Amino acid sequence: MSKVISNIKELDFSFEDLQSMPAPRKVLLVKPTHFDVEYVINPHMKGNMGDIDKIAAQDEWDHLRNAYKELGLHTHVIDGERGFPDMVFCANQSLPFIAEDGNKKVLMSVMHADQRKGEVPVIQRVYEESSYEVHHLDENKFGSFEGMGDAIWHFKKKLLWGGHGFRTSKDVYKLISEKFDVPVITLELVSDKFYHLDTCFCVLNEHTVLIYSKAFTDEGLELIHAVFENVIEASKYEAEELFACNATSPDGKNVFIQQGCTDVNQNLREHNFNVHEFSTGEFLKSGGSVFCMKMMLW
Ligand code: ARG
Repeated sequence: MSKVISNIKELDFSFEDLQSMPAPRKVLLVKPTHFDVEYVINPHMKGNMGDIDKIAAQDEWDHLRNAYKELGLHTHVIDGERGFPDMVFCANQSLPFIAEDGNKKVLMSVMHADQRKGEVPVIQRVYEESSYEVHHLDENKFGSFEGMGDAIWHFKKKLLWGGHGFRTSKDVYKLISEKFDVPVITLELVSDKFYHLDTCFCVLNEHTVLIYSKAFTDEGLELIHAVFENVIEASKYEAEELFACNATSPDGKNVFIQQGCTDVNQNLREHNFNVHEFSTGEFLKSGGSVFCMKMMLW
């Protein structure tokens, strides 16, 4: 079902019509060896140039990696490349997909900032070694696309949520919808601190999402509320300072989230999630947290 939906009038299918998709069981992680803030390409990075405590960053990253292992997921770890201080945010360089016949495909990103463009071929190698069919966007036809920073799969469903406005251009989603034969619901982002969809929108399970509502338009909020039964909202403080919505639930039950999101965590527990808190303070200085520090793979 190829279709791009941007407002509620275009939403002409029900949740039951959506095809299912297996949950990925592998996690790609990039070591933070060369992680740093060397330039400013989002408002969170301002004032943090050269201010990364490398030992603390490594420690935070180790805790996260171990937690994925403890959940029983297979971790695929690669080295970061010198000269690419943001490569640790490996949610951004690609969008993987699995078709009904089990064929694995991936669409590689066209990064918005020149400083990050060189990360894409390094991540592409992982897909080539893992038997994915690799697809590219025509850079002359489309603007930028930052993978799962902006394009987020619904939990176990062939439905893509497509953020646009800062790092990804909206017209990319028509092509993605046709290429993967999936419906895409687009969401315009309106606040520069929430420059990627994964900073303000976290799919927790089939029926539950965690959002920061001020990052969206009214049209977007209508779509979110139409599809999800449970919409948990983060406060400005927890969303902006602690990146609460950059959490992740690899299995629809356990949630990995930045430490200290007190209100969101209470809400998550009331919805029967197991909350695991992590310190990602060094990565917050670059505008990223748990969700964007990994890529789920089949
Ligand atoms: N410094 C990185 C950038 O601005 C952070 C990326 C975080 N990734 C994310 N999906 N939110 O590109």
